[in-house]
Amino acid sequence: MGKDRSGRVTRDGIKIYQDADFAGMQKAGAVAAQILDEVIPMVEPGQTTGAIDDFIRNRVTELGSTSATIGYKGYQHASCISVNHVVCHGIPGDKRLKDGDILNIDVTVIVDGWYGDTSRMFVAGKLPRRAERLIQVTHDSLMRGIEAVKPGNTFGDIGHAIQSYVESHRMSVVRDFCGHGLGRVFHAPPNVLHYGRAGSGPVLEEGMFFTIEPMVNLGRPETKVLADDWTAVTRDKSLSAQFEHSVGVTADGVEIFTLSPSDKFHPTY
Ligand code: MF3
Ligand code: CO
Ligand code: CO
Repeated sequence: MGKDRSGRVTRDGIKIYQDADFAGMQKAGAVAAQILDEVIPMVEPGQTTGAIDDFIRNRVTELGSTSATIGYKGYQHASCISVNHVVCHGIPGDKRLKDGDILNIDVTVIVDGWYGDTSRMFVAGKLPRRAERLIQVTHDSLMRGIEAVKPGNTFGDIGHAIQSYVESHRMSVVRDFCGHGLGRVFHAPPNVLHYGRAGSGPVLEEGMFFTIEPMVNLGRPETKVLADDWTAVTRDKSLSAQFEHSVGVTADGVEIFTLSPSDKFHPTY
């Protein structure tokens, strides 16, 4: 066991967790990631997003966890499923997937009080070329952001790594939604921005837990929320993609809590 950091909160309101707390996040993260692995064969043309959500809801319970999203601010589903130009918070329903649709599925579970939050992209049928590029750049931008996580770097370094990579590919980073601290709560400080200036923002410290979850658009970055008060879409109707991991800052870098158990995080497995 390393240093005792019990109870510490930084001046930015970011909780510092203990070495022993990493085990809680590992369990929760593994359950969320396993469920996304299990969903893969269901994502096919003709399938409804509601049926995928029903499967997720059942697996959450069967694996001894609880859904963090059911009942969260009135949300009624075990996942968010965001198809094509939906940026995030898509509500599962009766709509059937079509060949070439790309979708993000986002699952958050609670295991022994710890939150595991992850999302990734899936494809129904044949992946269109434009969508393939978007998915690749979005995935790689998350990984670049994660590579910037180590004590002494700042949250701005994460945002800068993501933004500079995405914009070098002439795509845009969504500004209206961000990552977040988590742990024994779903959403905690800080807001983890997916854009920014190197060296800006709070300094990363060992024991911080948070998500990184960049949303990337093929067109402009602006979004709007539909009348259902959840579904966020691109204003210009361009395609959007997102990947999300829950991570912890270690003594010399980062631990990813939501790695895919069968190494199927990226949809071109
Ligand atoms: N899992 C989402 C996130 O990454 C939050 C979903 S909240 C919900 O933070 F209510 F829409 F499910
Ligand atoms: Co999240
Ligand atoms: Co999420």
